[in-house]
Amino acid sequence: MTTTSPNTILIFDTTLRDGEQSPGATLNVEEKVEIARQLSRLGVDICEAGFPIASPGDFEAVNRIAREIGPLTEGRRTGQPMVIAGLARASQTDIQRAYDAVKDAPRHRIHTFLATSDIHLRHKLKIDREECIEQVIEAVSFARSLCDDVEFSPEDAGRSDPDFLVQVLGEAIKAGATTLNIPDTVGYTTPEEFGWLIKYLIENTPGADQVIWSTHCHNDLGLATANTLAGVQAGARQMEVTINGIGERAGNTSLEEVVMAIHTRPTMYHLETNIDTTQLTRTSRMVSAYTGLVVQPNKAIVGANAFAHEAGIHQDGMLKNQQTYEIMRPETVGLNASRLVLGKHSGRHAFRVRLEELGYDNLSQEDLNAAFKRFKGLADKKKVVTDADIQAIITDEIYQPPEIWKLNYIQVSCGDRSTPTATVSLTGPDGVTYEDAALGTGPVDSVYQAISRIIGIESTLIEFAINAVTEGLDAVAETTIRIQPHNGEKDYRVNPQTDQPYVRTFSGHGASTDIIVASARAYISALNKLLAAREENSRLGEGTDYLTTDLTDQAD
Ligand code: KIV
Ligand code: ZN
Repeated sequence: MTTTSPNTILIFDTTLRDGEQSPGATLNVEEKVEIARQLSRLGVDICEAGFPIASPGDFEAVNRIAREIGPLTEGRRTGQPMVIAGLARASQTDIQRAYDAVKDAPRHRIHTFLATSDIHLRHKLKIDREECIEQVIEAVSFARSLCDDVEFSPEDAGRSDPDFLVQVLGEAIKAGATTLNIPDTVGYTTPEEFGWLIKYLIENTPGADQVIWSTHCHNDLGLATANTLAGVQAGARQMEVTINGIGERAGNTSLEEVVMAIHTRPTMYHLETNIDTTQLTRTSRMVSAYTGLVVQPNKAIVGANAFAHEAGIHQDGMLKNQQTYEIMRPETVGLNASRLVLGKHSGRHAFRVRLEELGYDNLSQEDLNAAFKRFKGLADKKKVVTDADIQAIITDEIYQPPEIWKLNYIQVSCGDRSTPTATVSLTGPDGVTYEDAALGTGPVDSVYQAISRIIGIESTLIEFAINAVTEGLDAVAETTIRIQPHNGEKDYRVNPQTDQPYVRTFSGHGASTDIIVASARAYISALNKLLAAREENSRLGEGTDYLTTDLTDQAD
């Protein structure tokens, strides 16, 4: 079981479970393992690695995280390995599967949940309050028979009757729960209300002092951060959060926001976390690159503009004293303020040192070589290569799916007097070079058509975003896209809360000083991800029967 000192607040990160429930944020096994490695380095206390019963792929991801990341202490401030948690509905099959997935981690947890609001009991579960209590006792006792660290969540607690919650949670404690998590599943509560609820539950639940109380807020009204902090002030000592606040609908509480609030306002909270804040920017970029969910520029802490000062009066104040307009130092969140970094005469050593200063100190020789080659190419085009450029190169080179298809070159002709035409050359998985040409409604469309013809996959582009990482006409552009394949491929996994299959969407990202090249790289990245997912499915099997049987049981 996880213990904590009274002024340490535990960070339970659910990026790989609730975060991955964001529409289109599907991650493959390799990406999940890499994100978990980074979360460990960040200092996360508990990592909810997934929902193991959802599919063989989800099981494998959680199990690999348990085996490979579970034992790691390197780079962690706490010196203790991260707890690896698996989510399970309140059924023995789910709980057993979650346990089997996490049990190889030195520190592991089963997180089981059941809805408690009347609206969920009546319409979703079709059970009454008595049956709900029985199921909770059964689920928690079974989980506790397997594992010492058991978390229970009354789903939709934010809209549940507080006195019924007291009853359910009292039984969960008696059955052996060690953490009680209070979800505002639909992001309905306000800070006053949520803080009140946590306080009421702690004061009235029998045995409340034997467990850790936790918050889990959704951001439908933009109140997730405020609600979480209100819960903490009311006595919660675990916060459930995601990187960049990703998650169902409007997302979950964002890890970086609550951590930096506690860090920046010690006299307000008198609390600390185990998070190494200098890893925040890197983690945010990694999650954004792998999920394809772009961080809005004005996002607190990790948005591109979070530390930018535009207004003349602000710049004047900043030059006189940084504290005039800055409540946090960019370095504290892992953003280096230095702008003049490297140029075309900089060598491999200087490049590696800069990467290490930016927190990329564990790159393989192969990744380092690839990144250095890209850096040299960029330095030939741009006088000054900034930290933002380097981060874009790393994101583009390293945070990519396996390179099944590789871009050799593209050539485009466009303008307002001609039909855009593209010629594309790719190298395929067989090592053969393929070339094709296509017309399109614009240069990106023509490039995408040519790529689709070569690879033989038709898809719909459902999101396309392009962003300059620095100012200036020679800036590096980052393109992020999401596509849905045309052949109606269904995702075999289900969302644990709605029991509905996910929509199968793939993201891709690319960077270049040429926006058409960046867009082509993004499309190839998304198609490589799609092909890798197909391979993963055929290797692991889809497991549909296994899953639907269980879901049917649950619905009954
Ligand atoms: O929002 C929610 O209720 C959840 C539970 C499964 C904890 O994510
Ligand atoms: Zn949730």
